[in-house]
Amino acid sequence: MNRLATSYLGLDLRSPLVASAGPLTRQPESAVRLQKSGAAAVVLPSLFEEEVVHEEVELDRALEQGAESFAEALDYHPEVRDVESVADRYLATIVEMKKELDIPVIASLNATSSGGWIRFAGSIEEAGADALELNLYRVAADAARTGAAMEASDLGVIREVGTATGLPVAVKISPYYSALASFAVAAVEAGARGLVLFNRFYQPDLDADTRQVLPRLELSRPWELRLPLRWIAILHPQVDGHASLAASSGVHSGIDAAKALLVGADVAMMTSALLQNGREHIATVEKELVAWMEANGYDSVAQLRGSVSYAASDDPAAFERANYLKTLRSWNAPLDLKSKPQPD
Ligand SMILES: Cc1cc2nc3c(=O)[nH]c(=O)nc-3n(C[C@H](O)[C@H](O)[C@H](O)COP(=O)(O)O)c2cc1C
Repeated sequence: MNRLATSYLGLDLRSPLVASAGPLTRQPESAVRLQKSGAAAVVLPSLFEEEVVHEEVELDRALEQGAESFAEALDYHPEVRDVESVADRYLATIVEMKKELDIPVIASLNATSSGGWIRFAGSIEEAGADALELNLYRVAADAARTGAAMEASDLGVIREVGTATGLPVAVKISPYYSALASFAVAAVEAGARGLVLFNRFYQPDLDADTRQVLPRLELSRPWELRLPLRWIAILHPQVDGHASLAASSGVHSGIDAAKALLVGADVAMMTSALLQNGREHIATVEKELVAWMEANGYDSVAQLRGSVSYAASDDPAAFERANYLKTLRSWNAPLDLKSKPQPD
């Protein structure tokens, strides 16, 4: 028996180690190397709503200009239509990966709103993807839009994508929902077969000299796993049997993967660790996970999964607020009391 076997979104995986959406899953050759190193599935980088919508707007404009400006407009149209779009290339990559790989290929759509573009979910299914990850990434910057309105809109997108495809849909969310457990359960009720916790937001920086806003992308650190750990522990008993859970953010080692499984994840996803250490790092993480399971008496991932979740924990409050006080009191580094407070 394969002790690492797990199931994610109804797909049987040889291990819980999955390469998450990022630069290493963009090219089929790179995905083949990930598979060789032991990745049990790959998630393609997202096809972004902006890219699809922008191209469609440009195409419409070109077609309109063609019809207005040229007598030979009818000849012109097929040329414009022949241009390979970002979406076409994305679909072609799925087809190629399905030819080259034995492991499941999960496509990803980045959505900020519902709309006609969601029909791509159907094309992704036709291209042969095994599942679809819906990457809900947005900033709640509009003071006129309430949390309830934004959540309703997100749930609408999940429902719409579910209607557009028969594929199992996982929803990758940020931790910034005001009532995360309620939203997560509503997402499952809206049709999500899995939750990926969490998407990382990248905060832009400011160049003080040029006053320009600069994009900044930093890779994750292992301590960032704590946020998904806490929420997977809390959500596991609430969605178990209805949806899979994936840990994303801060999985760098086999022990990190073990922790994610202990609190109830079905899979542990990695991007930063593979960008830092190379694709072959998956094999190292797998060895570490197996060694940890042996040392701790676990025969299978099934036995390990969720054994320290909120429901199974001797101290469930540790995952909730009570932990806050303990954490604050746990600071025991010597304080530098030499500098005396200044009188007011
Ligand atoms: C360079 C880069 C590109 C990424 N592109 C995507 C993407 O297209 N879609 C997506 O959902 N997540 C994307 N991610 C996020 C990762 O899939 C992952 O959720 C995040 O990096 C946290 O996991 P980690 O700690 O293993 O890196 C990207 C991350 C990086 C570093």
